[in-house]
Amino acid sequence: MDTPHIPVLLQEVLDSFSSVDSGYFVDCTLGYAGHSSEMLKKYSHIKHIGIDRDDEALEFSKNRLEEFESRSTLYKGTFATVLPTLKETPIMAVLADFGVSSLQLDKKSRGFSFESDTLDMRMDAGAKLSAYEVVNEYSKRELEYIFDTYGEVRSYRKLAAKVVEARSKAPITSAKELSQIAKEVIPAGKIHPATLMFQGIRIEVNSELSEIEGLLDALEAKHTEGEVVSLITFHSLEDRLVKNRFKKWSSQCICEAHAMRCSCGKNNAIGKALVKKPITATKEELRFNPRSRSAKLRSFKFSKTSKI
Ligand SMILES: C[S@@+](CC[C@H](N)C(=O)[O-])C[C@H]1O[C@@H](n2cnc3c(N)ncnc32)[C@H](O)[C@@H]1O
Repeated sequence: MDTPHIPVLLQEVLDSFSSVDSGYFVDCTLGYAGHSSEMLKKYSHIKHIGIDRDDEALEFSKNRLEEFESRSTLYKGTFATVLPTLKETPIMAVLADFGVSSLQLDKKSRGFSFESDTLDMRMDAGAKLSAYEVVNEYSKRELEYIFDTYGEVRSYRKLAAKVVEARSKAPITSAKELSQIAKEVIPAGKIHPATLMFQGIRIEVNSELSEIEGLLDALEAKHTEGEVVSLITFHSLEDRLVKNRFKKWSSQCICEAHAMRCSCGKNNAIGKALVKKPITATKEELRFNPRSRSAKLRSFKFSKTSKI
């Protein structure tokens, strides 16, 4: 089957779950089932749950996973809302491969690409907020916040002012038009001038960072002894959330930093990060899938016992 998306760090993801021999594997970002189909092939004893908020991705994956139908259930929704509903399910493996899929990026009508004639960027085409409202209706201050905090755009003030100036003449209706505005403010460099602005708007439209926090909260609230979580991030804002949460989960001492003496019993770790540094793509993978260049994989195993 032709797939519109090459799964990143595939072998590394499969290896991270090598200790899992029963229960359920939850793929929080099913996409085109690149990771899921290989997980189902390799681990024939596990059951599978796939979550995505994009109908196109779910439809594609439903067909792709047909041969595993008896072991697989798919859910439409966001992972931060679906995962907490799976309370009774014996989950032993969780994967999230954050960000957008290649199909979402490449299909012009979705409005993620610089050349799109629409201004959309919704992963769930039925969601209320799209890039059009953000760009045309948010205040200048709100745009500055998004460009600065979510996009880490250096000249975020200038960029917000330029957007506000442009939309005062006529609404901005396409991603193409928006990237033209970025080109006028941001000099061409290694990446397209609109890259960071688009990242900021996409994060806002899809509540991407609060979704990750919601997922981490759900995992913290409910996990099973031996459960492995593998999370793939694509930029520093995402990676920081994951890194800090894994650090918290593996800390024995939970006393305030300024406490004079430890009073927590130093026995609070709920598991251990499986790798100290995040795993990144090999040179070989970079050659056939350039989109893997910013991917970082971190894995954590929940375990109250000292042996991991
Ligand atoms: C990078 S792709 C995943 C690709 C997948 N691993 C594969 O190999 O085909 C990310 C997918 O996650 C979905 N997604 C992103 N954030 C989500 C969220 N908060 N809840 C549910 N799905 C989400 C997107 O719609 C997209 O299909």
